[in-house]
Amino acid sequence: MGLRFIFMLTRNDRTVADAEQHLETALAEGVHHIGFKDVGLPLNHLKKLNHSIKTGGATSYLEVVSLDRDSEIRSAKAAIEIGVDILMGGTHVEAVLPLLEGTGIRYYPFPGKVAGHPSVLEGSTEEIVASARQLASHEGVHGLDLLAYRSSGDIEALMSAVCQAIDKPVIMAGSICDKNRIATVRTAGAAGFTIGTAALDGAYPETETDLRSQLRAIMRDLAEVNNHVSDVPAKNLVASFAKFEETWSPRIAGRINDMLLKLVKLKGEFVWHYHTVEDELFFVHRGKMLMKFRDRDEVVNEGEFIIVPHGVEHCPVALSDICEVMLLEPGTTLNTGNATDERTVNELVQI
Ligand code: NI
Repeated sequence: MGLRFIFMLTRNDRTVADAEQHLETALAEGVHHIGFKDVGLPLNHLKKLNHSIKTGGATSYLEVVSLDRDSEIRSAKAAIEIGVDILMGGTHVEAVLPLLEGTGIRYYPFPGKVAGHPSVLEGSTEEIVASARQLASHEGVHGLDLLAYRSSGDIEALMSAVCQAIDKPVIMAGSICDKNRIATVRTAGAAGFTIGTAALDGAYPETETDLRSQLRAIMRDLAEVNNHVSDVPAKNLVASFAKFEETWSPRIAGRINDMLLKLVKLKGEFVWHYHTVEDELFFVHRGKMLMKFRDRDEVVNEGEFIIVPHGVEHCPVALSDICEVMLLEPGTTLNTGNATDERTVNELVQI
């Protein structure tokens, strides 16, 4: 599974006043994980925000900022009242776990000792790893929220050590601000990371500083880091056939492993031939085709297809003035098979 990006509606560890507006932008850009903190906006406002996140089809996260036990308990109760999907942060696990029981909220506390605001992670790698192990041993702890970039030691070593020490997901929170850090977080084995301030301030490396461009840049970089690049737009057959006029000259419209998807316009009768090894699929997109065989003829109407097995002699004929046909066949297939005439095409053009 790929690394998950959690967009935090927060700046300097506080939920921003215009969170609702930024949320709209994020949802429109297809961000599916969105969080906020219990500091910065009143509870009823956070409730509305959470509702908008959920109705927008995203998963909601509340990250606890409070550091003392009593305020952490208050934050956990607020998370329950708000109805978030995931509660992140906090260190008083023994106090919070009983509250969360039966709520369905997934819990990702902070390993290690966290101090100050904005929060700083204190202690050695060994101490933080020991804390991570201890926390992860609780059944009600579903993962950890590691303030890796808020620690002063070897950050990469710390991230890897924590990810390796437990078999639950680890989210890296705080101060992730460029593609290098996203890549580092992935290499360490993290399940996700948060970005708030950098995107809201337009500080993520990208020419445009507005939030929409910033989120797009983060998701583009994340897709590259995750190796999830999918530059595969839908193609329209009518538009594709409109790109050429020539008949009996197949164009390559796509590749499926060793198979080619070809588009061809038929006019009149072709040449009798067979293919020694290749099977051919003919799908009639527009018009009507007659497939002649040595023993019989087969009419193929618009929206129908016919598969001609290798070795079978055939001769396609357009029954309409022009018949548009989509072919699916191995890349090695020559249009005239074992025959050769002036319509034999050795080098196909791609459209
Ligand atoms: Ni053929």
